[in-house]
Amino acid sequence: MKRILITGAKGQLGTDCLDAFKDCAGGSGVDLPEVDLSDRFQCLEILDKLQPEIIVNCAAFTAVDACETDPTCWKANCDLPSHLAEWTEKNDAFLAHVSTDYVFSGDKPLFQSLEETDEPNPISEYGRSKLAGERAIAEQTGRFAILRTAWLYGAHGNNFLKTMLRLTLQNPGKEFKVVNDQYGSPTWSMTLAHQIRAIAEQQATGVFHASSEGYCTWYDLACSFLEGLNVEHNFVPCTSEEFITPTKRPINSILENAHAKALGINVFNDWKVELDQFVDQNGTAVVEEIKAL
Ligand SMILES: NC(=O)c1ccc[n+]([C@@H]2O[C@H](COP(=O)([O-])OP(=O)(O)OC[C@H]3O[C@@H](n4cnc5c(N)ncnc54)[C@H](OP(=O)(O)O)[C@@H]3O)[C@@H](O)[C@H]2O)c1
Repeated sequence: MKRILITGAKGQLGTDCLDAFKDCAGGSGVDLPEVDLSDRFQCLEILDKLQPEIIVNCAAFTAVDACETDPTCWKANCDLPSHLAEWTEKNDAFLAHVSTDYVFSGDKPLFQSLEETDEPNPISEYGRSKLAGERAIAEQTGRFAILRTAWLYGAHGNNFLKTMLRLTLQNPGKEFKVVNDQYGSPTWSMTLAHQIRAIAEQQATGVFHASSEGYCTWYDLACSFLEGLNVEHNFVPCTSEEFITPTKRPINSILENAHAKALGINVFNDWKVELDQFVDQNGTAVVEEIKAL
């Protein structure tokens, strides 16, 4: 495998990518605060120094609600991948960039899945900034793969599953409303890291949907996780209207990995099978982490 650079290497996905690519000669990672890759000078300077042949971009501003009011999200989600693409093109490198289901409006009728050929139409600032990042890449280089993933969880960093576990453990017996009318494909960041590797090894280009098979609601996901851990919970299903957030979320976020399947390199399994594997491998450590908070 070629010389790899993983950006956002301290994040949820970046940490798993470091693991998935650990046997690669010269593999390394960068992140804030050491390097601000949204700064063009800093970004091009570190790339010139490290000379990666493959860049895996996991760096992003991922706080969806904060994106509505914090313009920094445009620097991380659009400027940063744009700088990476500029360098990639000039240096014959390959850029594997991670994007999101939130580039779609979610208005596609349930339960029709979203393919790579569906037209993006984001309804949030996060989605708009991520779509702008995708387009900035495609305008500058053909040497890219964009992997749109969804509902990411993993062992490192924060995610929905850890939040639901924390709320339950810190408030025994208390009821929590969980949205039960948004549908998506929960995805383990470790499996996504292996999908990125499969695509990077072939240097397969274009847009790829990259999420687990099947779909569920946030309520289904929260219940499945806590039940897998044998932790009692009091989750109550609710509608999106009953659970107001600063950002509107897509109702239908179900992705179909059509491109990867056509190439015979789709690595994802059913979301529930993957969640059970995640619990088997990381459940005890995650519970200990949350209890220590
Ligand atoms: N999380 C999800 O549910 C989800 C769903 C769909 C798609 N995605 C996409 O999946 C990818 C990975 O997400 P994740 O959950 O692993 O995110 P994450 O845990 O928030 O990690 C992102 C990392 O990027 C770093 N970063 C941000 N701005 C940077 C900059 N200017 N220069 C260098 N590093 C910077 C962050 O540092 P700080 O923490 O210091 O800011 C953080 O370590 C992202 O592209 C995201 O849009 C995520």
